[in-house]
Amino acid sequence: MTQGIQVTGENIYYGDFLAVRNVNVTIQPHAITALIGPSGCGKSTFLRTLNRMHEVIPGAHVEGSVKIDGEDIYAPGVDPVKVRGHVGMVFQRPNPFPTMTIRDNVLAGLRLNKKRISKSEEDEVVERSLSGANLWNEVKDRLDAPGASLSGGQQQRLCIARAIAVRPAVLLMDEPASALDPISTLAIEDLMNDLKDEYTIVIVTHNMQQAARVSSQTGFFNLEGAGKPGHLVEFDDTEKIFSNPSQKETEDYVSGRFG
Ligand SMILES: Nc1ncnc2c1ncn2[C@@H]1O[C@H](COP(=O)(O)OP(=O)(O)OP(=O)(O)O)[C@@H](O)[C@H]1O
Ligand SMILES: [Mg+2]
Repeated sequence: MTQGIQVTGENIYYGDFLAVRNVNVTIQPHAITALIGPSGCGKSTFLRTLNRMHEVIPGAHVEGSVKIDGEDIYAPGVDPVKVRGHVGMVFQRPNPFPTMTIRDNVLAGLRLNKKRISKSEEDEVVERSLSGANLWNEVKDRLDAPGASLSGGQQQRLCIARAIAVRPAVLLMDEPASALDPISTLAIEDLMNDLKDEYTIVIVTHNMQQAARVSSQTGFFNLEGAGKPGHLVEFDDTEKIFSNPSQKETEDYVSGRFG
C-alpha cells in the first residue's frame, strides 16, 4: 500500500437518487483522514463506496472510479468480496456477534474469506489481532467468553481486531467512538494512531476535536439543501481546515456557525 486512494468523478446513487456528486480526492496512505459534515451530506455513503459495501443495497450504484493501490476496485471482473478483504470496515455501533466467543469473533472474517487454517495459525491470528487492537491483555484469559460479555469500548476494539485479522490495507471507520465514553474514545484514538503506521485509515466523525486530534487531512462534505446531493466542499491538511479553510462554508461549519 503506497499510493493511497484516488477517487475520480464519483457520483453515488441510491436508485435514481443522486446522494453524493462528483467526488475527486486523493487519500494519503499510512495516515488518518477524517471526513466531517452535517447529517445527511453523504459521509457514510461515500465511505461505503471505498470497499464496495454501498452496492449491497438494491439499486445502489456508483459512477466514476475508485483506485486503491493503483487498481480500480470497480473495474469489470473485480470481486467485491476480495475488495472487502483488502479494505476493512468498523461501524458506528460495536457489532460483535454476541453469542460467538471472543476468539471466534476475531476469526469470523478470516473464516469467511479463506479455507481452513490450522489451530496454531488461528492462535497466532487471534493474539496478533487482539494485541493490535490493544485488547489482548484484557481478554487473553477469557477468549471463550461470548462477545457480548465485553464493555462497549472493549466490543469496539474487538470489532477492530476482527477487521485487522484479515490484514487489510485500508481501515474504514464510521463514527467508531460515537457510542463510547470519553476514556474508551481516547483509547480508540490512541489505537488509531498506532495503526496508521500499518494501515491507511479513513474515519467519519461528528466530533471536530476528534478530527483535529487524530487526522492529518480532513474532508468537509456539505449539501446545498434537502433532496440535493451532498458534495465534498474542501479537502486539505487538518490544520488548514480548522484554522484557515479556503471556503466560507467550511469555516462556518468548523466554527459552529453552521445552519
Ligand atoms: N439505504 C439508503 N437508501 C436510500 N437513501 C439512503 C440510504 N442511506 C442513505 N441514504 C440517503 O443518502 C444521503 C446521505 O446519507 P448518509 O447516511 O451517507 O449521510 P451521513 O453524512 O453519513 O449522515 P449522518 O451524519 O447522519 O450519519 C441521505 O439523503 C440519506 O437519506
Ligand atoms: Mg453516517
